[in-house]
Amino acid sequence: MQELLQKIVEKNKELTNLGAVANYIPELDKANKNALGICVMDMEGNQFCYGECGTRFTIQSISKIISLMLAILDNGEEYVFSKVGMEPSGDPFNSIRKLETSSRKKPYNPLINAGAIAVASMIKGKNVRERFQRLLDFTRKITEDETVDVNYKIYCGESETGDRNRAMGYFLKGEGIIEGNVEEALDIYFKQCSMEVTVYTIAKLGLFLANDGVLSNGERVISTRLSRIVKTLMVTCGMYDESGEFAVRVGMPSKSGVGGGIVSVVPKKMGIGVYGPSLDKKGNSIAGAGVLEDLAKELDLSIF
Ligand code: DON
Repeated sequence: MQELLQKIVEKNKELTNLGAVANYIPELDKANKNALGICVMDMEGNQFCYGECGTRFTIQSISKIISLMLAILDNGEEYVFSKVGMEPSGDPFNSIRKLETSSRKKPYNPLINAGAIAVASMIKGKNVRERFQRLLDFTRKITEDETVDVNYKIYCGESETGDRNRAMGYFLKGEGIIEGNVEEALDIYFKQCSMEVTVYTIAKLGLFLANDGVLSNGERVISTRLSRIVKTLMVTCGMYDESGEFAVRVGMPSKSGVGGGIVSVVPKKMGIGVYGPSLDKKGNSIAGAGVLEDLAKELDLSIF
């Protein structure tokens, strides 16, 4: 496995030159464009890593699957999906247009920004501090990584440049999708995107879902049903308006973030984390996707 990872990472490194590091948030553009790393963890406890594995990067949109799990634990599936749909939007992750033009008047799914802001508004706690802390604690628990924490420089950048997200938040409040305080929902959203992780952290997250919501110590944290909901949405919406093509090329439930991370799940087998901050036009790690495609081919990991 180690040799295979080396071969695949080295082969895909040249792809990093074809993309670009996200620069719409100050600080994100400081990442090394040519960085590329992978971590694979299996259900037997084996762990294999190659390349840029120790580097910390912000989890960004990968956090949307974590907040979805906590929001469903807090409010139940029926409530959450009464406010947010389950359909791919076919639009970029930060798109606003369908919020008003479609008849449903609710975000298409929880993994686009509008849906994730609505989901953030549903996380319970007595004040905004406690609400985010619960999300951070939950993230640390299911990734089995106590070192996960917020990068405050990135958080400030998210907040300073987050006017599109604010616009969506206030629209959702006006439509009754967000019931509580909009600024609090946005603050939770900006902070959750700014949590720093490594490929180990997100591989563990993938393994947690591969194991249907059970930690490596055997503790069940979410139901099999909730784990299935999350994995299904990862397939249909996890790579934004590239989800269909990615499902054909790779075939593993996956979620990307503009920090350059992608988490992938091989149900009942493996969790995989990749990092490559050079992104394609849709905001997905260009070389990370290449690595996952090659690995899926070599090991026949597609679920389809
Ligand atoms: O809302 C934002 O601007 C971002 N922080 C979104 C995060 C993200 O990773 C989107 N897509 N890949």
